[in-house]
Amino acid sequence: MLVKSVYKRKYVNNTFPKDPPGSIFTPNSPPLDSLYESKMSASEAYEIVNSESYFDGDPQLNLATFVSTWMEPTAIELMKKNLDKNYIDKLIYPQTIEIEKRCVSILANLYNANIKDNPTGTSTIGSTEAALLAALNYKFMWKKWAAAHELKDPEIIIGTNVQVCWDKFAKYFEVKPIKIPVGPDHKININEVAKHLSDKTICVVGILGNTFTGEFDDIKGLNDAVDNYNRNHKWQIPIHIDAAIGGFIAPFYKKYKDIPWDFRLKWVKSINISAHKYGLVYPGLGWAIWRNKNDLDKELIFTIDYLGGSQDDFSLNFSRNASNVIAQYYNLTRLGAEGYEEIMNYLYEIQDYFLKKITNLRLYNTKIFNVVNSTPDIPIIVISLTKEGKALGLDLATIAIKMKEYGWSIPVYPLPIPLHNEIVMRMVLKVGFNFGMADKLYENIVKAIEETNSIPTTANSLSSGSHGIC
Ligand SMILES: Cc1ncc(COP(=O)(O)O)c(C=O)c1O
Repeated sequence: MLVKSVYKRKYVNNTFPKDPPGSIFTPNSPPLDSLYESKMSASEAYEIVNSESYFDGDPQLNLATFVSTWMEPTAIELMKKNLDKNYIDKLIYPQTIEIEKRCVSILANLYNANIKDNPTGTSTIGSTEAALLAALNYKFMWKKWAAAHELKDPEIIIGTNVQVCWDKFAKYFEVKPIKIPVGPDHKININEVAKHLSDKTICVVGILGNTFTGEFDDIKGLNDAVDNYNRNHKWQIPIHIDAAIGGFIAPFYKKYKDIPWDFRLKWVKSINISAHKYGLVYPGLGWAIWRNKNDLDKELIFTIDYLGGSQDDFSLNFSRNASNVIAQYYNLTRLGAEGYEEIMNYLYEIQDYFLKKITNLRLYNTKIFNVVNSTPDIPIIVISLTKEGKALGLDLATIAIKMKEYGWSIPVYPLPIPLHNEIVMRMVLKVGFNFGMADKLYENIVKAIEETNSIPTTANSLSSGSHGIC
């Protein structure tokens, strides 16, 4: 995008004096739409560019994103040491590829793959690339089968609760999306899925932690529906699990350890995970894992020989930084199952603490917030206004705008179809968040209500239920 330069006129011919005196204290303006003719000192360039970041939101108060905003200093040190490595130079950095392989094996194990099946996988730039690769693979496999059966017009079955990456897949790769409305529990409706399975279905997608409310689809139910279809048809429909959010939660949270959602289920053939979400790595890194090497169409793997030897490549892009892969391996090594479990439990404790506080909040003795995700599957807060809260004139979007003034980034949006008349507010709890921040968040929500409520509030009009006056 071109930005009109407003500062350009300050400089003759778009230049400025070399080494202006005191430049560190009075740095020049940033180049907006064309290069300056002369160079400047590194420290001045640093000051100029750094000053741009003052206008970004604070990542630690960004409760909108699922993506990591905090990493351990030792992990950052390792990332810095590897920043100069391009992941795709596999022959030059074989140990990075060895580390990637170990991460794939650890994840395949975590998702209960059978070693005899030869599980495989790859790192990606994020869950989007992993999801696109997985679904593209199913399109290729289906196309070969369909050609022999004179079938056209492939379809993919997804819920209305999917993230935009699945709409991208359908559009970019020309596969008709069959969008199954979610039930009142915000999960894909299994009966509706069963009705739409057909010989045109390249795959069915289950979500382990949907973006809207964080709830896990009933993956076992999906597997049963697909099993029922596959037992009576020649075309064997695979299931892909989008575990972008839940892939690093379900294996470590006691409530889910014994609930099969992964390769324990027969038709789950592939899983995508965002390492940069609860894998606790900075963006961008994801993983695509297949239960069996044979579930991957060899035609999609390119062999390239212009990097000093022959190497395989299965990706949508090419070059990317290797440091995230190293950081993922650091986290796996450093935390082990115990560490991940500890972190998840801590976040669930904050979630529980905050939900109790927010649902106890009263305006004129009236409960104003509902918890939307009644069985929170991931450590996020999703709330809506009660009927009474709306009647009092409260509005979530107005509260969110006020919260932005206090530094917090909090999204407000409608639930997926057919629940889209319900507007919710979501706060994602991540590593780096603590009980003190939860208290401040609560205080700021109370303040936002006081300042935006059209009915004048007094010290006594807002109360925190049984916990007394705020
Ligand atoms: C369920 C789900 N799938 C896929 C994605 C896309 O993930 P990424 O940002 O890693 O590409 C997201 C992102 O939030 C998500 O929530």
